[in-house]
Amino acid sequence: MRNLYRLIYLRYVFCGSSLSEASAIKKREPPKAANERVRLHDGWRFRRYEEIPDNVIYDFREDADGDNLHVLKPWILPTANDFIKNPDNHHTRPTEQPDVRIEFAKNSYDDSEWANVTVPHDWAIELPFLEDGDTIPLMMGQLPVHGVGWYRRTLEMVSDDLEKVVYLDIDGGMSYSMVWVNEHLVGGWPFGYNSFRLDITSFLKQGKNSLAIRVENPRGPSSRWYPGAGLYRNVWLTKVHPTHVAHWGTFITSNDVSPESATVDLAVQIENKGIEKRTITVTTQIYEYDAKERQHGEFVAEIPQRKINLLRGDRQSVNGSVRIKKPRLWGPPPTQFPHLYVAMTRLWDGEKLLGSYETQFGIRSLQFDPDKGLLVNNEHVYLQGVNQHHDLGALGAAFNQRAAERQLEILQEMGTNAIRMSHNPPAPELLDLTDRMGFLVIDEVFDSWLEKKTDLDFHLIFEDWYEADLRSVMRRDRNHPSVFMWSYGNEVPEQNDEMGAQISSSLRAIAHAEDHTRPTSFSLNTATPNASITDTADIINLNYQGEGIRYGPAYNHLTEGTKKTPQYDAFHEGHPDKLILGSEVASALSLRGSFVFPVTPYNSAPVNDTSGGDSDTLAVSAYELYTAQPGSAADRVFKAQDEHSFVAGGFVWAGWDYIGEPYWCETCRSGYYGIIDLAGFKKERFWLYQAHWKSILPMAHIIPHWNWPDREGKVTPVHVFTSGDEAELFVNGNSQGRLKRESLEYRFRWDNVTYEPGEVHAVTYKDGKKWATDTVRTTGAATGLRLTADRTKIASDGEDISFVTLEVVDPDGHLVPDAAHTVTFSVSGAGNLVATDNGFPADMTAFTSARRKAFNGLCLGIVSATAGSFGTISVKAESEGLEPAEIILQSV
Ligand code: GAL
Repeated sequence: MRNLYRLIYLRYVFCGSSLSEASAIKKREPPKAANERVRLHDGWRFRRYEEIPDNVIYDFREDADGDNLHVLKPWILPTANDFIKNPDNHHTRPTEQPDVRIEFAKNSYDDSEWANVTVPHDWAIELPFLEDGDTIPLMMGQLPVHGVGWYRRTLEMVSDDLEKVVYLDIDGGMSYSMVWVNEHLVGGWPFGYNSFRLDITSFLKQGKNSLAIRVENPRGPSSRWYPGAGLYRNVWLTKVHPTHVAHWGTFITSNDVSPESATVDLAVQIENKGIEKRTITVTTQIYEYDAKERQHGEFVAEIPQRKINLLRGDRQSVNGSVRIKKPRLWGPPPTQFPHLYVAMTRLWDGEKLLGSYETQFGIRSLQFDPDKGLLVNNEHVYLQGVNQHHDLGALGAAFNQRAAERQLEILQEMGTNAIRMSHNPPAPELLDLTDRMGFLVIDEVFDSWLEKKTDLDFHLIFEDWYEADLRSVMRRDRNHPSVFMWSYGNEVPEQNDEMGAQISSSLRAIAHAEDHTRPTSFSLNTATPNASITDTADIINLNYQGEGIRYGPAYNHLTEGTKKTPQYDAFHEGHPDKLILGSEVASALSLRGSFVFPVTPYNSAPVNDTSGGDSDTLAVSAYELYTAQPGSAADRVFKAQDEHSFVAGGFVWAGWDYIGEPYWCETCRSGYYGIIDLAGFKKERFWLYQAHWKSILPMAHIIPHWNWPDREGKVTPVHVFTSGDEAELFVNGNSQGRLKRESLEYRFRWDNVTYEPGEVHAVTYKDGKKWATDTVRTTGAATGLRLTADRTKIASDGEDISFVTLEVVDPDGHLVPDAAHTVTFSVSGAGNLVATDNGFPADMTAFTSARRKAFNGLCLGIVSATAGSFGTISVKAESEGLEPAEIILQSV
């Protein structure tokens, strides 16, 4: 991690090469940039206030109203101007500073009592859970996200800096960010998921400068899930020559793509904020790019250089193209490889290099075929997707590179090839990861438009900000090859009326103007095929409608809520020219390793206390057949998709469990929707998806575990998930029968097995040949602990982390599947314990606690190296009556 940011820094340090050297440089070594971009990671002081402490607010809101409040919206709105096309709609900044004394923004304010924090930072994740849903509704995860957070820091400027233009780049502040530099309110951005830039040049002086940032989350319902709180994404300081490439100023597209050649088209926006007119030469060289090592590779091509004149204050676009022979295409594994390139654009004033700008991109073609689905580089790629919220479990919303990478690694192991960023823009680094790992991404911007989903959500600012929010996300993310489409809405209440169609038309026009290469859409859960909004979609994104809502024999008794029969055919007939995909499918529920009896004979059933659920233990059965009322289990989703070959694929709700939105247990911190639990442990469904999505991987997985002392002699169904097409099951060596896979069935079921302790063994076959086996055994009593780490070497940057899994085991080393021992972690040497978890949604122990109960035999410790200290890190786990365990990690 440290190396990663060092590299980013190095890429932006000044270098004095000249234009005449450019062509020599291009073939020798990767070019260096003339800009400086530094991450503002440490040196921050932070304080949170539950109530408004400073008499200011972005705008009056239901939760905060009062005569003493000063509304700062007029100073914030102009930050949007760069993203509002019509100059008549630009906001004018008030000439005066707001008439309010804000102590925290003062240069002289003594913040020495405030907490020392690093950014990204999520203030709520470290705090105890709230006891009720009074201040923050239960669906937001019961952590104290509400209140005002102030962040302060010094910015040191040397005299050379004052010749430059200095920008502050905030990747995400949750929410209503406002920024003061040397006591001047510079601007801000209310939507917490968006990134934004402020030009702070005119407020800076040589020496120490004070930076103060205020973020605020309303007290009350502002989100349908855990939003996080604070400066939860990276913050950067960018220093450039007054004549420079504008913010997110490049757009690279590839055309006429084939394995033989491709045309790369580049548009660069250049702006002159200097006081003089300038003639500059623009050069761009393209290199191969190794995203993992963050290194430039071979020189590939050069875009013909261009000379332009820029008047003071001018902004101009420069276009160029180059044909690349035998391009290394970007495409999703396993059949393709996500090759990347980097374009290095440099601006020259005669011989003098003024600045450089890097754009990573990929060369690939996309086709959206209404009958075949998605084609990437002419190859059909079925979308095996999941929805992901932005939190990182026990680490909260604070972006962490390794935690995000781990989420993707586990999803990729399952066979996932696509992610829908539900329902808001992700951290920029997450898209670097999806580029590098080869996921196809739906980049989604809004969960609500004008009509609210919760009282204090985005609808409050939609009218003022929708254009700027949509344009800025698209400019930020448009060069990522992983992004294959844009979504600007999810299940908006307006989907059934004319207003919805009108809003969608405006959003679509903006989206098409920003990017002519990708289609746009929004997810529909209630609109019918003839709803006028559907005419404004390039692609039909259906939530749950494809496989039916409250549909099927097990759902017949439900009397409340929308019911729909499967709708794929109806939408295909209504829109034969549009590709259809399931932007949300499933909404199945389960608790890792907890099984409930009896087992439904259906392939999907709504959970309740007589069907898969147990409200005493809070279990939803891990037989993986139970769902939220509008949902469908995986088996039924697969069936609906396989019956409709025109469907491009689907995105499971959800890949990972996330904080908030508890469905079965309303008082829980997190929900049951994920295929992977909040700690990152695989639920049984993981193997159901893997069997279907990775059909060439020999695998078999038996459920349930075989520790049922109370079930001797009782019917205890055994199911097997396998990529094989035949399976035989043995209980203590006795065959329970050999089954052949039936068409449109996705699991093997032996529903009449009688429980007896011992061993269950499955042998599976494919095309008549032995394919894969699995065994589960009745274990002995728990006697010890075992620790394993996903990585034993971590960087000593304070951010890189190792995920340490604790298992409660019997004398033979088998995981005891229902163990619930209380465990204490301790970390010594060069590291720290950051958080613990066990994946149980009802565990309300603070995430920072070193002591936690194992859940169904497992617990997780998240360990980081202490910044700057190298050497060994000892991680120990103890539990009364059990053999302790230790694992040694290295901080390098
Ligand atoms: C959908 C919604 C998702 C999530 C899911 C849970 O309707 O779009 O955000 O709430 O339901 O089932």
